Amino acid sequence: MTDSPDQPRRRYGIPLSALSESQIDAIRRIPRHDQAKPPRLLERRSVDIFLSGDYWQMEKAQIFRAKPVVVAPSARLPDPGMVVAHDGYGIPLLISRDKKGQVHLFLNACTHKGAALIEDCVVKKWSTISCPYHAWTFGLDGRLIGVPREETYADFDKGTRPLTHLPCRESGGLIWGILDPRAEADWSILDDQIASDFEHLGLPDWHVYGHRRFDLDANWKLVMEPFLEGYHVQRLHVNSIGPQGMDMFADVVSVADRFGLHTRQTSGRGNYAPEVLDDPAINVRSYITHAYNLFPNTVVITSPYYTSVMVIMPVDEGRSRVDYYMLTESAPDNPKAEELYARSFAIIQDVFGNEDFKASELCHRGLASGAVPDVIYCGMEAPIPQFYEGIESVMAKAAE
Ligand code: FES
Ligand SMILES: [Fe+2]
Repeated sequence: MTDSPDQPRRRYGIPLSALSESQIDAIRRIPRHDQAKPPRLLERRSVDIFLSGDYWQMEKAQIFRAKPVVVAPSARLPDPGMVVAHDGYGIPLLISRDKKGQVHLFLNACTHKGAALIEDCVVKKWSTISCPYHAWTFGLDGRLIGVPREETYADFDKGTRPLTHLPCRESGGLIWGILDPRAEADWSILDDQIASDFEHLGLPDWHVYGHRRFDLDANWKLVMEPFLEGYHVQRLHVNSIGPQGMDMFADVVSVADRFGLHTRQTSGRGNYAPEVLDDPAINVRSYITHAYNLFPNTVVITSPYYTSVMVIMPVDEGRSRVDYYMLTESAPDNPKAEELYARSFAIIQDVFGNEDFKASELCHRGLASGAVPDVIYCGMEAPIPQFYEGIESVMAKAAE
């Protein structure tokens, strides 16, 4: 992010004025905690949306193979000449950044006879990708550039066998792809305001401090749910970030704004009162949390000194994988920063892994037992049914 000339660059935190106008407007709409009034509502969703294999097959065909999904934060491949394999969506993928800085998404399958080009999911700094089987070599832009003993092929044109491209786009510091090479590349789901917000939060320029994969026995939407509501925070997290622990948050609903199918929740932390914003020197992230739920399966949450990016990838109706990334402004370059980041990474893995994700698994198991015919949502959970309306509208359109 670039600072305006009259604004000195701060390390470890940003002032309110560095945010987008839209983010500032949302922050100004946060009431004092004791004046926050959640709506009253009762919404229901059938347990079938979490348990049914048929419902999952529809989501897969109409959303996860048809619409853009996040594959990684841009910071995963910060420099030109980087490539990484990605196996989270059940399709073998390669993500590369070519020497011009352009990001590409390919199937991780050699166009000779299909061998995986890269087997692990470790980021490589390579100028070309060479197949382990017969050493066909590809550029990071996907062109086939080298074929051993090429003269033994009759009438062969290398230009006809590039890597298989998938539609791909970088927006607001996230790499999005459409996971079907034959799908029509419809990017209308991406939202300019969200991209602008992320630029103001520095997402495109930040650094991946930590990355961890979680494998969960829960429907992917049950994993999304705790990031769409604040109802559970004082309760599930009572001993960690809640009132008996670090006591970071108030028991209030956030200011929720919709941008197309995406939701932005802006909330005051426990220490928030409107007057704190009068001091231009504050790190606004120490008082305000921004939580973005990007359709369909990505969560971005700010903390005072880092940003969490979570991509929740369904395996089937009852299993999910989560790629958790902790982004920091830069790599730690002093022991104090290293200690702060390491401690934060340990805490956040514990809170998300052992509390939120565990709750998702426990819910899935309970719903699968037949305990209730539907799940009900109150005014403290209002963004959850709104999120489901988005999924339902996309699937209804696809069915037309
Ligand atoms: S399968 Fe890749 S070079 Fe033969
Ligand atoms: Fe939570």
